[in-house]
Amino acid sequence: MRTLVHWLVVLTVLGSAEPFQQQQAVVVPSQDIKLRDVHIGDINFVHTTDTHGWLGSHLSQANYDADWGDFVSFVDIFRQKMSQLSRDVIVIDTGDKRDGNGLSDATWPPGLRSSKIFNMMDYNLLTLGNHELYTAESAILEYRGTSQSPKFKDKYVCSNVEFIEDDGRRVPFGNKYITFETPIQKQRVLALSFLFSFQRANNRAIVTPPLEEIMEKGWFQNMTETNKEEDIDLIIVFGHLPATDPAEREMLKIHALVRKYYPNTIIQYFGGHTHIRDFVQLDSKSSCLQSGRFAETVGFLSINMTNFADFDNPIFTRRYIDFNKDAFTYHLRRIANDADVSLSTRRGEFISRLVNDLRHDLNLDQKLGYIPRTYYVSTRPLDSEENLYHLITHKILPNLVPSKTYVPSMSRFILVNTGSVRYDLYKGPFTKDTEYIVMPFSNDWRFITVPLVVASRVESYLNKGPVIASLGIPSSIHHKQHFGGLRKCPFITDPNLSEGYTTEDDFGCHGDDTLHNSQKEYEMPNVVQCKDVKGSKEEEADPLKMVHVIFYTFMELDVLNAVNSIINDLGLRMENLTTNDCSHYGGDSTKKLLRDYFAQF
Ligand SMILES: *[C@@H]1O[C@H](CO)[C@@H](O)[C@H](O)[C@H]1NC(C)=O
Ligand SMILES: *[C@@H]1O[C@H](CO)[C@@H](O)[C@H](O)[C@H]1NC(C)=O
Ligand SMILES: *[C@@H]1O[C@H](CO)[C@@H](O)[C@H](O)[C@H]1NC(C)=O
Ligand SMILES: *[C@@H]1O[C@H](CO)[C@@H](O)[C@H](O)[C@H]1NC(C)=O
Ligand SMILES: [Zn+2]
Ligand SMILES: [Zn+2]
Repeated sequence: MRTLVHWLVVLTVLGSAEPFQQQQAVVVPSQDIKLRDVHIGDINFVHTTDTHGWLGSHLSQANYDADWGDFVSFVDIFRQKMSQLSRDVIVIDTGDKRDGNGLSDATWPPGLRSSKIFNMMDYNLLTLGNHELYTAESAILEYRGTSQSPKFKDKYVCSNVEFIEDDGRRVPFGNKYITFETPIQKQRVLALSFLFSFQRANNRAIVTPPLEEIMEKGWFQNMTETNKEEDIDLIIVFGHLPATDPAEREMLKIHALVRKYYPNTIIQYFGGHTHIRDFVQLDSKSSCLQSGRFAETVGFLSINMTNFADFDNPIFTRRYIDFNKDAFTYHLRRIANDADVSLSTRRGEFISRLVNDLRHDLNLDQKLGYIPRTYYVSTRPLDSEENLYHLITHKILPNLVPSKTYVPSMSRFILVNTGSVRYDLYKGPFTKDTEYIVMPFSNDWRFITVPLVVASRVESYLNKGPVIASLGIPSSIHHKQHFGGLRKCPFITDPNLSEGYTTEDDFGCHGDDTLHNSQKEYEMPNVVQCKDVKGSKEEEADPLKMVHVIFYTFMELDVLNAVNSIINDLGLRMENLTTNDCSHYGGDSTKKLLRDYFAQF
């Protein structure tokens, strides 16, 4: 995928980017943790993306134990220390702020109360993601409550999205671009922000594909005329689109266009949406950082605008900080060279209290059961007892009891799409919040009666087809090797380390601040099934025995298409089946069955 020329650029940059071992008088923080340091530059960026409502820390994951108040304290103290060192800090978010956690999703619209807390962070630049646009209510809340708020009106950038006012007028969702000067180093910045070509926006928003926006709308041309290359020191293009995207390559295409007008300007990109840690070197004066998801990661990036060894090329460094209090404290102490720095601030403590009050008001801590061990979505193979889908197909779905059509002797296949699960299920209390995090949506069941020979082929048929609608659940693609590349970094297995991110990116294998054991990612199929075949072996072998295929209501057309194609392929003398052949099955949703299962512990 990468050309040789590209790798050469990467290698020369690598040579200059990692070896900053020598520090001045070394302060060893009181905890005996050893993290990789951040490397301060002239301009320093703190980046979040795809927080999806996770403002209240990860209560069952010690490694992500910082809440939004701790993060605000970290940034406030960091800014203050940087200002003492005459360095600039720019804090950026690239969208997707709801749909993932009870703090945002237990209100209507999602984010009604959590976005007020999110907005207490003094972001310098912010924008939206696709999850701000699934419903009209979300779009209105985002536009009026954040984009047009007094605090962020001049900081919210959205180059290719429009909002539709009550009277039908189309207005830019935020500034098309902004220019500003950094407070300390007086660097002149031009900032743009793009959302990927998202096509499922609600009727109060219009998304124009980024390239079309740049080439056809005129404002971009005007912008390049009023902001000439010699007037700008740094361009920031932040937005909700992935750094690595071999299929669409939108970021690279945007870069090619911006480079045309600004051949020599430093251009720093910030991305999101695919929920991974990633860093890409675009050319010798341009890079892109993507900072994970779900408040598991704070992305740090620095640029030294001039590099004394090679005057023409800036120096970029990047670091992925694990979202916990020890890591935040560690970095503040190292930066300040002062072992007494403490993470807390009054403002941060106030925000932590607001988060806890909200959690309490929404009843998110209500205990519904206990999870005796951790179940993983995709870092354990499907046939492992530690895989969450294995649990669902072996322990949860067999408990499905339909309302009336139940024939206990009837064999059945119960199909669910894997996209209906959105996070690992961690050992610890099973609360109302756990449901919002892991399986937020209820479902109704439908079924169809077909010969066993057909039923037994539906799962694999569906798994060859396109991904089944995931109800707007955030996709979760952790590692770059998913894109077909071979991993070059070592796979870490050290008995002293916990599992976590071991990211491979264009600067190598050492971007994560915290040492972890690597997690292997397994490809999960589109759908999984519970196969509940009754009767003797002999009956099982009868391919024409009629059985039930049970599925989520919204999968009906996919299942019918699969069934009919199988009937055709097998040459069975049967009419094609239609929605009239599908019936209501009844019974509890998977969400309810999951809750009931853990209620017994
Ligand atoms: C940036 O430049 C400063 C000197 O101005 C130097 O102390 C620092 O190490 C440099 N940082 C990086 C990441 O190159
Ligand atoms: C571009 O600038 C011209 C001249 O100032 C102006 O007439 C035109 O409306 C501008 N176009 C856009 C899309 O802003
Ligand atoms: C794990 O920690 C122990 C005790 O600190 C140490 O002796 C051992 O070498 C460590 N193991 C590895 C693989 O680093
Ligand atoms: C039955 O359905 C299959 C798959 O959708 C389709 O290819 C075929 O043409 C249909 N046959 C008839 C008679 O409609
Ligand atoms: Zn997202
Ligand atoms: Zn997204």
